[in-house]
Amino acid sequence: VARRPLIAGNWKMNAGGQDACSLALGVVEAARRSARVDVVICPPFTALAAAAHELWESKSAVMLGAQNMHPEPAGAFTGEISAPMLKDSGATWVILGHSERRQIFGETDELIARKIAAAIRAELQPIACVGETLEEREAGKTLEVVERQTRAFLDELAKRPGFGVIAYEPVWAIGTGKVARPEDAQEVHAMIRGLCASVSEELAASTRILYGGSVKGDNAEGLLGQADVDGALVGGASLDATGFGKIIDSAE
Ligand code: G3H
Repeated sequence: VARRPLIAGNWKMNAGGQDACSLALGVVEAARRSARVDVVICPPFTALAAAAHELWESKSAVMLGAQNMHPEPAGAFTGEISAPMLKDSGATWVILGHSERRQIFGETDELIARKIAAAIRAELQPIACVGETLEEREAGKTLEVVERQTRAFLDELAKRPGFGVIAYEPVWAIGTGKVARPEDAQEVHAMIRGLCASVSEELAASTRILYGGSVKGDNAEGLLGQADVDGALVGGASLDATGFGKIIDSAE
């Protein structure tokens, strides 16, 4: 099945203001070379509208995503941002369940599933993240942990096959420079695809599964060459348009 590759840049808490505009324009230029790859940039909330403006002005196919959201559409939730607000800012994607949200902010499988359901209701495409810690990997629990995290939101993704994507990000590979070996990533991606297949063949065939964790221009090709790796969720290397462009080129 030909799934269109997707390369998403998670800027995390970096590149606000003018930096966001310059970086967005750099990605627009880099992405022009690749007609067969979907590209999403995820700036911080405060830079979404400015980045949306740059993408619109440059008539780019690069899409905009946010990095988190609250599951309720509105209400007394001081400091939070809802799915309809993200849509208003020009976002069409949202990263949910990132390991930094799980670990630093205590997000549970149940909360993440609610957020994914709310995103889909609001027509935002979720990038649903899963991944084991180093401790869990060393204890031989990788597949068990990733299965539990994936099962928690699978029914939500199944309501609209192919709309949401899943990102496998081993926590020990995030920001460490220790990338997973392509065959290790493939093993987990194949297991996730199997879970999708247990719901429906359509879900398995249409769901893009991204790898994330120290993806760089010089290791992307090996990962993207795996049968069940349909793209990448890139952190550090997405903050430099040239390096991010190299990853986009590897997916072409
Ligand atoms: O969302 C992105 C991941 O956390 C990967 O970050 O590419 O800096 O390792 P990284």
